[in-house]
Amino acid sequence: MSGETLTLKHLIGGEWVGAGAGIESLNPSDARDVVARAPGDDGTAMRAAIAAAADAFPSWSEASPELRSDVLDRAGTLILERRNQLGRLLAREEGKTLPEGIGEVTRAGRIFKFFGGEALRRTGVTVDSTRPGVECATYRQPLGVFGLISPWNFPIAIPAWKSAPALAFGNTVVLKPASLTPAIAAAMAEIVQEAGAPKGVFNLVFGGAAAGTTLVKDPRVAGISFTGSQSVGMGIGKFAMERQARIQMEMGGKNPLVVLDDADFDRAVMCALDGAFFASGQRCTASSRIVVTAGIYERFVAALTAKVAGLVVGDALDAATKIGPVASQAQLDTVLSYIDIAAKEGARRAAGGERLKLEKPGYYVSPALLVDTKQDMRVNCEEIFGPVASVVRVKDYEEALAVANAGEFGLSAGICTASLKHAHHFTRHVRAGVTMVNLPTAGIDYHVPFGGTRKSSYGAREQGAAAVEFYTQMKTAYTSA
Ligand code: UN1
Repeated sequence: MSGETLTLKHLIGGEWVGAGAGIESLNPSDARDVVARAPGDDGTAMRAAIAAAADAFPSWSEASPELRSDVLDRAGTLILERRNQLGRLLAREEGKTLPEGIGEVTRAGRIFKFFGGEALRRTGVTVDSTRPGVECATYRQPLGVFGLISPWNFPIAIPAWKSAPALAFGNTVVLKPASLTPAIAAAMAEIVQEAGAPKGVFNLVFGGAAAGTTLVKDPRVAGISFTGSQSVGMGIGKFAMERQARIQMEMGGKNPLVVLDDADFDRAVMCALDGAFFASGQRCTASSRIVVTAGIYERFVAALTAKVAGLVVGDALDAATKIGPVASQAQLDTVLSYIDIAAKEGARRAAGGERLKLEKPGYYVSPALLVDTKQDMRVNCEEIFGPVASVVRVKDYEEALAVANAGEFGLSAGICTASLKHAHHFTRHVRAGVTMVNLPTAGIDYHVPFGGTRKSSYGAREQGAAAVEFYTQMKTAYTSA
């Protein structure tokens, strides 16, 4: 599909500013279609946005929580009202299918509404002092300006789950969205303004490394929340720590889905299919390693192969499409390079992994299922971030758990089984921040905490009631009457 090319601007201090087309987002389903042009930044716009956010902080942080609650709730309502149109823009710009795009927009709307409620729940506790006549109380206070750096794969849900809690608890923000998906970020920023956010409370700056580095290094920025690759995250982390800024990083996974002999077979196949391939596998929670016990291995691989081969790849906006393109030429190159690596490592390609030339010039690749793989192969250790999953054969639950726990990441882990004993043991012992029983590893609720262990995440949990930890600072107050 092609459509109008949007001209975007930064949002700084309530004004839409900046010119030029340093950033261009293309429709991954048809790379001839330019979705949006946005200004880039050498750091100048970023510094102005930080200044605007710092100026807006005193009155926003002192405002009634009811005001903050109303703004967030209204933003949620507007997002939900426009979910079809926003979902279409998201699918056009990022490449996930239209139902996936509308689903993500709905999630973003719900997140704003949830944090509209949380704005009224910034609570503390009182504690009896050990000293007679003294009272101890804790307060949660906002910190100031938060810098939010978001990826392209959830281009509205992640900006929503970073900005809504930051704003709810009285901080102001500067969002730097991924350069592949500026239009959907701008649409969200526009809605936050329309919902009544005072000037400077929510700022948006497009840009690459120069803008990002300026944001991370600026002493006026109290904290950084980042979702993206491990290599970028580690660089950001160093700068933030040098100046003792708060830092929260969510950096990917290599998530195992264990399937035991006693699993509900059809359900396990669906969990693997959805977890590994929906959203073109471009989810940090994707089930990229499917670990199957020997008793059902052959049958499971045959059934999954047939399902994968039957997935219709096509334009994200076509109703028949189950799997959209990958998001960019760079993602396509990465996916294809891992298909080569897998072949050299001796994995057998049971389905897909072909560059598809469809009618429109898009970044299409058929979903790839690699079977008879070994845990120590690179395809089982490195995050590919595309429609590629590998299957590992194990003899029993104990070996499955050991394989699940191998590697450096620990974001999400799932098990399909009818055994309460194994489900419970897995939930307790798998080294991941999110666990799923008889569910795909991807697809999280919007109102509960989210985050991983080991190389997947760093810092406090995001989302749900846990978000208050990162976006507030505790004060302990002693009073003697
Ligand atoms: C989901 O699985 O529903 O970037 C969300 C990602 C994660 C979010 C996953 N931060 O894929």
